Amino acid sequence: MFRDCIKGLDRVFQSEIKPGKTILVTGPPGSLKSSFVHSLMKVYVERTGEFGLYTTLEQDTSSHLEGIESIGLGLSRNLQITDYSEILMDEYGGNFNYMEFTEMMIDHFKGRYGERFSLYGFDSLGALYSMMTEVKNPRKFAFQFFTMLKKHNLTSFVIMESSQTGEPITMGNEPFLCDGIFHLGIKRNRGHLTRYFQVIKMRSTKHSMDPYAMKVDDNGIEILGPVLDTS
Ligand SMILES: Nc1ncnc2c1ncn2[C@@H]1O[C@H](COP(=O)(O)OP(=O)(O)OP(=O)(O)O)[C@@H](O)[C@H]1O
Ligand SMILES: [Mg+2]
Repeated sequence: MFRDCIKGLDRVFQSEIKPGKTILVTGPPGSLKSSFVHSLMKVYVERTGEFGLYTTLEQDTSSHLEGIESIGLGLSRNLQITDYSEILMDEYGGNFNYMEFTEMMIDHFKGRYGERFSLYGFDSLGALYSMMTEVKNPRKFAFQFFTMLKKHNLTSFVIMESSQTGEPITMGNEPFLCDGIFHLGIKRNRGHLTRYFQVIKMRSTKHSMDPYAMKVDDNGIEILGPVLDTS
């Protein structure tokens, strides 16, 4: 159950996220996008015995691991982290076919784990767009990317950066194409910065749309109560 995988997530979700959904995870720099998706996936695969693939373009594997270790998480046998950064920069520059490569990797892990391979994380679409010089039509790309993930029956968390004010940096129309949008925000509240988690949409799921305060420390992420509007 996804809503048991991060402490307090069941405050936001009254029913479970159905398998095979594509979810966009948006937020400004440092808003816990990578940590949130990794935590959710890691706990889920360990509890269910399923398998997940987390692809990072934004950071290399060791820097991603440093980040998750700082919130008390480590590696898991059921969660594979792959890092595109070296291949992308060194060999292909802007002419790399991300879609084909990602699908090849998914096929490889489906071949090895079958339907046990059920979760996919992508970090991040913004980083991908900034490298994709050969993609003329990002809207079409986003559509094909989400369609490909659905075809493989993967519950997918696709990270997309947003600006400080919260607007996602979208080049396509990802918000319409995906089944769910989780926003990780940072609010200024009486001179303090408060982290929050908000579900903008989640198809076929009963959920609150309020922003919920979120805390992080050495023991991980916790979702607290709704944030009161102080504006
Ligand atoms: N042990 C900890 N205690 C408190 N805060 C922590 C701890 N470990 C990490 N953090 C916070 O988590 C943040 C990093 O989170 P993360 O990398 O998941 O964010 P992100 O949204 O993916 O960032 P980016 O936009 O850079 O990719 C750090 O900037 C720090 O504020
Ligand atoms: Mg990140």
